[in-house]
Amino acid sequence: MGAVPDPDLAPLLELAVAVANEAGGLIEAAARLDPEEVTTKTSATDLVTATDRAAESLIAERLLAARPDDGFVGEEGSPVTSGSGLTWVVDPIDGTTNFAYGYPAFCTSIAAELDGVPVLGVVHDPVRGQTFAASKGGGATLNRRPMGVRPAGPPLAHALVGTGFGYAPERRAAQGAVLAAVLPAVRDVRRAGSAALDLCTVACGRLDAYYERGLQHWDHAAGALIATEAGAWVGTLEGGPLDAERTVVAARPDLVEPLLDLLRAAGADQMP
Ligand code: IPD
Ligand code: CA
Repeated sequence: MGAVPDPDLAPLLELAVAVANEAGGLIEAAARLDPEEVTTKTSATDLVTATDRAAESLIAERLLAARPDDGFVGEEGSPVTSGSGLTWVVDPIDGTTNFAYGYPAFCTSIAAELDGVPVLGVVHDPVRGQTFAASKGGGATLNRRPMGVRPAGPPLAHALVGTGFGYAPERRAAQGAVLAAVLPAVRDVRRAGSAALDLCTVACGRLDAYYERGLQHWDHAAGALIATEAGAWVGTLEGGPLDAERTVVAARPDLVEPLLDLLRAAGADQMP
């Protein structure tokens, strides 16, 4: 926080904010219509709607019209290889199950990576009209105001902790067992249903910590940078990169050690 943003990133961040807001408008308008056609993807509980696809097309069209040499990776479409070194990583609707039910916790997530290194992230919540944004070394903002994690001090027993569950039944069963060990050791647990929003929720101090195994690249690309820039520790329980085989953790830095110990004791690093 308080760092000076890299001037080269400023126009890219503005572009991402504008596109995320436009996609958010499309998503919010769709959420007010009759229930649309919903189909499933990786499992019977993994939903996708026509709006996920429409929002991703709009985002890809806008970003690649402005920057035709960039690459693009989105949850719903085929990847485009980068000629510029910069690749956009997009989840058009993170929290699709919530969206399909009209449960107000979903967002558009747009990140950019330069040669694989995250350099900017925007997460826009169209229901609350909240835009979380960060650029590498530039700090993090909520609706353009600087934001940060909660102050250090309160112990893990007084921490509000977010988590999420995958779509495969066997992973869910293991996640439930870990949760049973975490719940009595913390103040309480939240499951909002959008990993990108969960990471931003830690970033702005509405949660002390968050963990989830099995996140996809587009789920965490923007939110992880935003949380880092807001002062959170972001990493994995197992060590190594944020990938779908590991447990992503974002937390107030002073909670990291006790939280990782608790998760390991609960067997979170041994889950399928
Ligand atoms: C899901 C949400 C959810 C998380 C799942 C994600 P989707 O993304 O982020 O909170 O628990 O792991 O797959 O399917 O809504 O884009
Ligand atoms: Ca997602």
